[in-house]
Amino acid sequence: MERILHLQITDSTNERLKELAKNGALDGQVVLADEQSAGKGRRGRSFASSKGKGIYFSYLLRPEEFAPDLSVLTAKAAVAVRNAILSVCGVETGIKWVNDLVLNRKKVCGILTEMSTGKGKIQYVIIGIGINVNEEREDFPEELSNVATSLFMETQKTFSREEIVMEMIKELDKIRESLQYFQRKMGDMKPEWQIYSKDREEEYLEIYRKACVTTGKEVCVICGNAKRMARALKVNEDYSLEVEYEDGSRESVNSGEVSVRGLEGYV
Ligand code: BTN
Repeated sequence: MERILHLQITDSTNERLKELAKNGALDGQVVLADEQSAGKGRRGRSFASSKGKGIYFSYLLRPEEFAPDLSVLTAKAAVAVRNAILSVCGVETGIKWVNDLVLNRKKVCGILTEMSTGKGKIQYVIIGIGINVNEEREDFPEELSNVATSLFMETQKTFSREEIVMEMIKELDKIRESLQYFQRKMGDMKPEWQIYSKDREEEYLEIYRKACVTTGKEVCVICGNAKRMARALKVNEDYSLEVEYEDGSRESVNSGEVSVRGLEGYV
C-alpha cells in the first residue's frame, strides 16, 4: 500500500482511511481526494468539498500505548496546517478556538479528529483536514457565504494543493514522531529529550496562543440547547478555553463539551 492514497472522488476521506486502518494500514497513512460526495464536519455537519478546488485529506495515527488527548492533538494539528499554509502560501491564518483556521473572520479550514478503541486499546486516530484553497464564491452553498472563504478569495492568488499537502504531511509527521517518542520513552526519557519534547510542546502552544482569534472576544458558549454570553480570556495549557461569564464566574471549557461562536458573526 502506497503511503498516500490519492482518489479522484470518495464519500469521505476519513471513512476511506477508517477502512484502510481496519485492514492494517500503518501509522502515517494518508488518504487524499479531489472531491468528496459526503464530506463530514464536526457535530454531524457536512463539509462542502467541491471538485479539484480544495484539499480533502486524512492522516492516520496509531498510538501504541496511551490514548492521546484528542483536543490537544487536534489543536496541534491546527498549528501544523497553519505552519504549512504559511510556508507554502505566505498566508497567516488565525485559529478560531478550537481548531478552525480563519482568514478575515471566515473559515478556510476545518479539522475532524476521530478515534477508535477496541480490545482495551486505541485502534487508531484519524485526523481529517479540509482546506478551502482555490474555491470561488459560487463554489460554496449560499448558506455558507457569510462563514466560508478560501485562500484564493482572500488573496486573489491560486495555490498548488500538492505543495500544501506535502508540507502538511511533513508537519503532521513531526507530531506523529513526538507522539511515538513520548509513548516509547516516557519511562526512561533522557534529560535532553525531556527538554526537547517540552520545547516542542511549548512551541505548539505559543504559536496557537498567538494565532488564536477567539481570546479577548465576547463569545457565546453553547452547550446543548443552553447558551451563555462570556468573554474569552485565554487558552490554557491543555488547550481548553478560559471564559468569564457576565456574573463574573469563570470556567475552563473543553471543545468536546461546548462550541463557541463570536457575537459578530462566525469568529
Ligand atoms: C469541521 O469544520 O467541522 C471539520 C471539517 C473536516 C473536513 C475534512 S475534509 C477531509 C476529512 N474527510 C471528511 O469527511 N471530513 C474531513
